[in-house]
Amino acid sequence: MLETPENLSGIALVGSGSAVPSQTLSNEELGLRVETNDSWIRERTGIETRRIISKNETLTGLCSKAGSKALEMAGWDPSSIDLIILATSTPDDLFGTGPEIQASLGANNAVSFDLTAACSGFLFALITAAQFLKNGEMKRAIVIGGDQLSSCIDWDDRRSCILFGDGAGAVAIEKTTAEKNGLLAFKMKSDGQRRSCLNLRQFSEHLPLLKEKTYQKGSYQPIQMNGQEVYKFAVKEVPLILASLLKTAQIEADSLNWLLLHQANQRILDSVADRFSIPHEKVLSNLSKYGNTSAATIPLMLDEAVRDSRIQPGDLIATSGFGAGLSWGAALLRWQGPS
Ligand code: COA
Repeated sequence: MLETPENLSGIALVGSGSAVPSQTLSNEELGLRVETNDSWIRERTGIETRRIISKNETLTGLCSKAGSKALEMAGWDPSSIDLIILATSTPDDLFGTGPEIQASLGANNAVSFDLTAACSGFLFALITAAQFLKNGEMKRAIVIGGDQLSSCIDWDDRRSCILFGDGAGAVAIEKTTAEKNGLLAFKMKSDGQRRSCLNLRQFSEHLPLLKEKTYQKGSYQPIQMNGQEVYKFAVKEVPLILASLLKTAQIEADSLNWLLLHQANQRILDSVADRFSIPHEKVLSNLSKYGNTSAATIPLMLDEAVRDSRIQPGDLIATSGFGAGLSWGAALLRWQGPS
């Protein structure tokens, strides 16, 4: 079929990349700081170690590296990129870290901005970027998920500090024909009523400005989490949204090649897989090495499985992101890879 603008209504996933800090922090090492131990953390979460950004690294640097690898895999000239979205809750610059990444990639013709939706951020950014490609003039986008939650953790709170790590992942997507579409269906949800389960809130102090006038001076408090409530939320809502996604796409769970969930906890991954009778070999997991890297987990896992050839062109992947907000979402993807 002739590829006229009218039938270019699909999105193809053509490249991926990722980057993690060089510094590791094992469960045993964490036990030197808080009262915990390797077997407790492994049993409850599946995590063995995580990466933490150290002196000579930055989140911007990791995200740029991940984006650059995705660009390289796609075989694109940086000047051909129209859009770069950075999903993050921990930007190096709250005014926007995306533009700095754009500059480092040399993507001079792109527009770039940040999007925040915690651990659902990458999925929401991917879906957002896809809308620009489907509906507008844009043809190529890089979607990056990167977080440095190590900078926001209370390292003396053993209930939360064991879970998180730093990292970045990226995908390159481009406009394609409807027949080659790689974003087959998606769902997104949020529920602010349940926001207090997981927060990274600003704490405001009221300081005098002028006589009878004050201003609020804010600084962020460390992550506050009710682990059990978040766990219950994930094992309930993720299967529901995935079931709804598969129904919309008219796909049976046994047709999936891979289940790619936000890497929060191995028990959550196993529980969701069991609800759909998906064999555990089809459940992608690397959280033992990295912990929960928030917006980075999905593209970091995708990139690893693409580069070690587990994910092959044409593979059908059900993915779901979930976390603070509360927010959650799911998408049915078909990996195309570079042409
Ligand atoms: N090491 C050793 N003991 C610990 C511990 C640690 N790191 N953290 C908590 N404990 C203790 C608790 O103090 C408690 O002891 P107590 O019964 O004497 O009070 C006991 O272990 C059980 O604590 P609990 O909080 O009930 O554990 P849990 O089974 O719920 O596991 C999580 C805790 C955090 C691993 C689990 O709730 C979880 O993974 N939740 C989801 C969190 C998540 O994914 N957040 C990000 C979403 S994007």
